[in-house]
Amino acid sequence: MEKKPRNLFFRATPWIFLLLLPFLIYADLFWGKFIHFDQRIHYISSSETVLSSRKAMINKAVEEKQEPLDFPLSRLVKDEDQEKLKSTGFACNSEVYSLHCVTNRPVWIDTRTMTVTIPSNQPVQDKVIRPYARQEDKILLKSVTPVKILQGNTTTPFCQYNHEVPAVIFSSSGFVGNVFHEMNEIIIPLFITTRQFKSRVQFILEDYNPSFIRKYRKPLSKLTSYDIINPSANQSVHCFPGAVIGLKFHNHLAINSSEIPKGLSMRHLRDFLRESLNLKYSHVSQIKTPTVMFLSRRTTRRIINEDEIVSMMEELGFRVIIVARAKVISNLELFASMINSCSVFVGAHGAGLTNEVFLPDGAVMVQVDLIGLEWAGATYYGNPARAMGVHYLRYKIEPEESSLMKIFGNRNHIAFTDPKGAFPVQAGKEVYLNGQNAKINVTRFRETMVVAMSLVRDSEL
Ligand SMILES: *[C@@H]1O[C@H](CO)[C@@H](O)[C@H](O)[C@H]1NC(C)=O
Ligand SMILES: *[C@@H]1O[C@H](CO)[C@@H](O)[C@H](O)[C@H]1NC(C)=O
Ligand SMILES: *[C@@H]1O[C@H](CO)[C@@H](O)[C@H](O)[C@H]1NC(C)=O
Ligand SMILES: *[C@@H]1O[C@H](CO)[C@@H](O)[C@H](O)[C@H]1NC(C)=O
Repeated sequence: MEKKPRNLFFRATPWIFLLLLPFLIYADLFWGKFIHFDQRIHYISSSETVLSSRKAMINKAVEEKQEPLDFPLSRLVKDEDQEKLKSTGFACNSEVYSLHCVTNRPVWIDTRTMTVTIPSNQPVQDKVIRPYARQEDKILLKSVTPVKILQGNTTTPFCQYNHEVPAVIFSSSGFVGNVFHEMNEIIIPLFITTRQFKSRVQFILEDYNPSFIRKYRKPLSKLTSYDIINPSANQSVHCFPGAVIGLKFHNHLAINSSEIPKGLSMRHLRDFLRESLNLKYSHVSQIKTPTVMFLSRRTTRRIINEDEIVSMMEELGFRVIIVARAKVISNLELFASMINSCSVFVGAHGAGLTNEVFLPDGAVMVQVDLIGLEWAGATYYGNPARAMGVHYLRYKIEPEESSLMKIFGNRNHIAFTDPKGAFPVQAGKEVYLNGQNAKINVTRFRETMVVAMSLVRDSEL
């Protein structure tokens, strides 16, 4: 491949940038090289923004015509439960990972006790649920404030606030701070559950985490037109024409259009994120200089010879941005736009790869597959990439490239030949997830990057 002349700016050693860009260190987001895009691309994307905002205005006008509330609510239960919802006003959907209940009748929600009262003339039934999309994790669920649902001929408290739109109750307990879990268990389930309400929905966020709200401010404000209620700060009785308690989950970083509420896909999510975060690029061909975002991990699953790899990528004609693993990716908006301006995203297995959701179509996700992490890598990051129109390449390391070689001695050791069977689950995590670094064979990895380059170069809108 032809070697491109390199700008002096990009040749300087990374530590100079470390000194130059302290504000970026503050965000704990990256060290490395910053890139500029030329005016042409700015021009293209700003005219697009104008077009899409016009489209948004038209959509908005269409949306103003209100749909009956029953429709979006009943889509949140399965066909066989829709009759039940119609006749009793209440139905739930329980799966391995998620549990949510729906009512299309007037409800009283007392945020002091997190009690939801649904009056009817039937004998009282009660149910307690912890609204977090990780129902299989009983330990985690203990940190989620329970919601008590009372349905029947019970008395109702005095209503202090009347709302015109339904309520959705969910929790930001759990693994907040970890982008994989935030997306997997809150943002995507929230999107699945509430997108169809077209912002006409009131969120009640239990275990209210202000940093979560700040981080996802823009996507959240696209899903609801109302300020989110924090029950511990707003202790009152609120009335709603209907409610959803808990969020629907489909699969890990996945949306299945055949599952309730039916019709949504990862492509809808991708478009939603792009729109709500004002991301510039929808297709990789809009990025003039092929650019790699290299996710550098600092504690576990480190790639020891990063420098060599970066040189190899530059020699292939890529610009490389190196991002140090974020302890807390505190600035989603900045980070999403950085990822969105890249053609290739490279990293070893870890939550940070979740940011692939911000890549433009036709971009390439390259996962460095460490020993023993193949299943997790493919499930959590391979499938979602493909579902969003992003190419997925994996570079599977050989035992010789893993630091585990020093521990287990030779490639015929069971730790390499049968990672799944070699250790009990917890010990396996310690070995493969927390105890492994890699020194990558640059010659072999180059082949993967050559494929990535040709995918990017040959891509057409
Ligand atoms: C609820 O219904 C039961 C049985 O019909 C009745 O005994 C009870 O008094 C009712 N309670 C209220 C609060 O209306
Ligand atoms: C509680 O919520 C209601 C309705 O959203 C709002 O009008 C009121 O100002 C809130 N009160 C507090 C203390 O935040
Ligand atoms: C999507 O959901 C349908 C219906 O539940 C199921 O049959 C199908 O296997 C799911 N597809 C994927 C890829 O999980
Ligand atoms: C690196 O990979 C190349 C190409 O697969 C191979 O020929 C070479 O032996 C490898 N180098 C080492 C040190 O394993």
